[in-house]
Amino acid sequence: MVKIVGIAGSLRANSYSQMALGLAAQRVQALGAEVEILDLRKMQLPFCDGGDEYPDYPDVKRLQDAVSNADGLILVTPEYHGSVSGVLKNALDLMSFEQLSGKVAGLISVLGGQSNSNALNDLRVILRWTHTWSILEQVAIGQAWKAFSAEGKLLDEKLSQRLDQFAESLVETSQKLRKN
Ligand SMILES: Cc1cc2nc3c(=O)[nH]c(=O)nc-3n(C[C@H](O)[C@H](O)[C@H](O)COP(=O)(O)O)c2cc1C
Repeated sequence: MVKIVGIAGSLRANSYSQMALGLAAQRVQALGAEVEILDLRKMQLPFCDGGDEYPDYPDVKRLQDAVSNADGLILVTPEYHGSVSGVLKNALDLMSFEQLSGKVAGLISVLGGQSNSNALNDLRVILRWTHTWSILEQVAIGQAWKAFSAEGKLLDEKLSQRLDQFAESLVETSQKLRKN
């Protein structure tokens, strides 16, 4: 079965992006995929300095190895100033073609304001440059502060169904394009 790695680009304690990642991961797992979530809040990652080696930061290799061994990725970004968060961009910058080329990615954005596709579109452009295939299905969770129930479920049934379709497409496309 396919291996999927999930990464969310928020370091906030009660992050809705991390919540959305948890939901997406559950759905992908329910379809039989193996899922590993890399919680960047628990990892020590430096800013990318353009070098290849980060001997003082073993988590860089952990990130790279996990992504290398995956067939697909769930990438969740909070929308920050109309785009991808620096946290997620930096995690991607710490990797190269070696890890990301040919992988399949499903993209989710989480916003404080109205749902839109700004950060998702920008993330697609970044992934084109890392030669990562982005699936066509995507989910934007607007007004995240009122989008989740106390149990962490999505309150909007249509959005929840969209997440199901997203998960199905991610697993199916990762299977079709798997390299490992
Ligand atoms: C630096 C910064 C910039 C933000 N810019 C936007 C924005 O452009 N559009 C928007 O809808 N929300 C914006 N927000 C709100 C966040 O998207 C929102 O709080 C979201 O829930 C953050 O994700 P998290 O809950 O995973 O931390 C911004 C928040 C921060 C901290």
